[in-house]
Amino acid sequence: MTPPVIDFLLTRKSAPIDALSEPAPSDAQIETMIRIASRVPDHGRQAPWRFILYRDDVRMEIGEKLAALAEKLEGPLPENRIAKERARFSRAPLVIGVVSVDRPHSVIPEWERFLSGGAAAMNLLLAANALGFGANWVSNWFSENAEARRMLGLRETERVIGFVHIGSFSGDIPERPRPDVAALYADYSGPADD
Ligand SMILES: Cc1cc2nc3c(=O)[nH]c(=O)nc-3n(C[C@H](O)[C@H](O)[C@H](O)COP(=O)(O)O)c2cc1C
Repeated sequence: MTPPVIDFLLTRKSAPIDALSEPAPSDAQIETMIRIASRVPDHGRQAPWRFILYRDDVRMEIGEKLAALAEKLEGPLPENRIAKERARFSRAPLVIGVVSVDRPHSVIPEWERFLSGGAAAMNLLLAANALGFGANWVSNWFSENAEARRMLGLRETERVIGFVHIGSFSGDIPERPRPDVAALYADYSGPADD
């Protein structure tokens, strides 16, 4: 018999953000999710990540600020675009920002800190799904904008790994095309020739 966790991993997929609804995970469930998200490979045990919770009214306040920043950057925007920016953080009842924390190190490259952060975000998705919630990992334009990052609570040296949207979800998620697994691996056949 296939272990249930294998079926879980073989069928995991992200839920559409617009379909995530109340109730949000409880405080105890959030603690469990963060515990799982921080239980990831981490070269040098630097714990080079942290998590910012956006919930309740904060989500709407962030939306107002994102809409204002978008207009500051791009000029006057149509009402539908303003509405989109306003709703960015309030579509799901909980958004968890996964933040890569700068930990300058003489040996371990920055790249490996980012990879560990990606593992943390992936574990967060898995934990949310395992607790029965839908989840979706996005970055969006504000992850690449320094002013937006500061407004979202990140320090200048920190980077966004992702904003993981989490909420209750019921229904079917259409399958998206998946890579052809057979084309993804092969035995080693010598140096690459590009
Ligand atoms: C680092 C990262 C950033 C992403 N940012 C976005 C984004 O800004 N907008 C978006 O629609 N999808 C984004 N995605 C993709 C969503 O997570 C996407 O819905 C997901 O890949 C669906 O695949 P799954 O069903 O295997 O989880 C991002 C994915 C990653 C890994």
